[in-house]
Amino acid sequence: MRHDEIVPVLDFGGQTAQLICRRVREAGVFSTLVRPDIPRAELAAMNPKGVVLSGGPSSVYDDGAPAMDPGVLDLGVPVLGICYGMQLACQALGATITQGEHREFGRAALHIENAGGLFLGVPQNTSVWMSHGDQLTDLKSAGLDVLAATPSCPYAAVSTRPGAASAFIGVQFHPEVTHTPHGIDLIRNFLYEICGADGNWRMSDFAERSCEEIRGRVGDKRVICGLSGGVDSSVTAVLLHKAIGDQLTCVFVDNGLLRKSERGLVETTFRDHFQIDLRVVDATDRFLGELAGVEDPQEKRRRIGASFIDVFRDSSADLPDAHFLAQGTLYPDVIESGHGHAGNAANIKLHHNVGGLPKELGFELVEPMRELFKDEVRKLGEVLGVPDQIVWRHPFPGPGLAVRILGEVTRDKLDLLRDCDEILLEEIVANELYRRTSQVFAVLLPVRSVGVMGDGRTYESVVALRAVETQDFMTADWARIPYDVLARISNRIINEVRGVNRVVYDISSKPPATIEWE
Ligand code: XMP
Repeated sequence: MRHDEIVPVLDFGGQTAQLICRRVREAGVFSTLVRPDIPRAELAAMNPKGVVLSGGPSSVYDDGAPAMDPGVLDLGVPVLGICYGMQLACQALGATITQGEHREFGRAALHIENAGGLFLGVPQNTSVWMSHGDQLTDLKSAGLDVLAATPSCPYAAVSTRPGAASAFIGVQFHPEVTHTPHGIDLIRNFLYEICGADGNWRMSDFAERSCEEIRGRVGDKRVICGLSGGVDSSVTAVLLHKAIGDQLTCVFVDNGLLRKSERGLVETTFRDHFQIDLRVVDATDRFLGELAGVEDPQEKRRRIGASFIDVFRDSSADLPDAHFLAQGTLYPDVIESGHGHAGNAANIKLHHNVGGLPKELGFELVEPMRELFKDEVRKLGEVLGVPDQIVWRHPFPGPGLAVRILGEVTRDKLDLLRDCDEILLEEIVANELYRRTSQVFAVLLPVRSVGVMGDGRTYESVVALRAVETQDFMTADWARIPYDVLARISNRIINEVRGVNRVVYDISSKPPATIEWE
């Protein structure tokens, strides 16, 4: 994608490589990851304002460690090397890297010896986040000056001298992580003091450029987009629609496992408001048929996933000109599946997004948000005019209410849970807790308990309420919903939903519990 100003990041496989791009974008300059061995000429053709070399898990001495074209250092634009990127560049410039003896992980006290430039406006003593095994031990003839040091890392920041052939700055620590309190200042200083960027990149530019790119790639062919009503697929659909108009067909599968107003919201938003060609496939009978008699959570997921693929295949069969499939894949999905540019980012977990349709469907994929983080997608959604109700939506799992009904899923249980869930969400929104929580839902337990209503004994269902706060959904804490709000929710559910006589609140964190109950 062409941008007026771009600072590409060479991806040496570090977990935070994309975070560097995101910090650069936050600072107002477009940034994207490129492969570590990108040839100098290809990089030069991007006309970058500067270049960043990311960290990575390798040692420069490892067999097969990612290398770079040394020509990158004399492109004529400033280069910032971070951790492994610093070591690789300094080695190319003639410095010595020593392996393993100086391992340093976590917070370190940085003393700045050379203020100005990268460290402009940063206190002389500050803290930084380190995560390295190797480090620079001898600058020798490398023509480098020391800018800053920590007690165990004498060359924590170095730079080439003014007038040198290469304008290089290296930092052993990670300015991109929030544990480095002045990290964003360093990135801004690199962009504005050192690269002389103007910094006028905005998310609306991303939308524009992305539309151009989509048009170029798709030509006059049709694109199908599976719409779930969640943030990612919704923003993808609106972006695609802006790019190619009625060459886009969205397919929304109503699997009968949705919340109460879900289908209506999708229809009004996409068909009525955005005038997108939307096909709603009512596959309730098929899904509920598949789920009849099934109690095992994994088996439920498996059947739902398989049915989803079948339904999607059938509903796209009468769109023979459909060549592309648009998906709302985000960067965390890419990195969690271990598919970074260097191919060696550690595989943290297998993500379980049923939106991911198999290759055998034969579509070419369009994934315009592969580079973005969730909050950037929300920003993009706002720029594209996607309603707040969708942009700020809590996530909803692909298998829907089926994993919130413990045991067998039936129509009656679904109706009951939908009513409880609706009351819960109404109260959370009314008490202004929706934006302060990350995910809120009700779970129907497979037990009945004794109660008393009027003068009679009842023997009815138990509903659990779950509300969590989390940054990334990998860990989560239960939300401290005020007692009076919980009281009102419980009261309303027991009074308004026939068949429930007891409501409990889940106070487990993740780990060891998960967010969903199944
Ligand atoms: P857990 O229960 O694993 O959930 O702590 C973490 C987040 O993932 C959502 N989730 C799913 N999303 N398909 C999805 O698209 C699934 O199979 C699935 N299972 C869990 C869950 O709602 C939470 O946001």
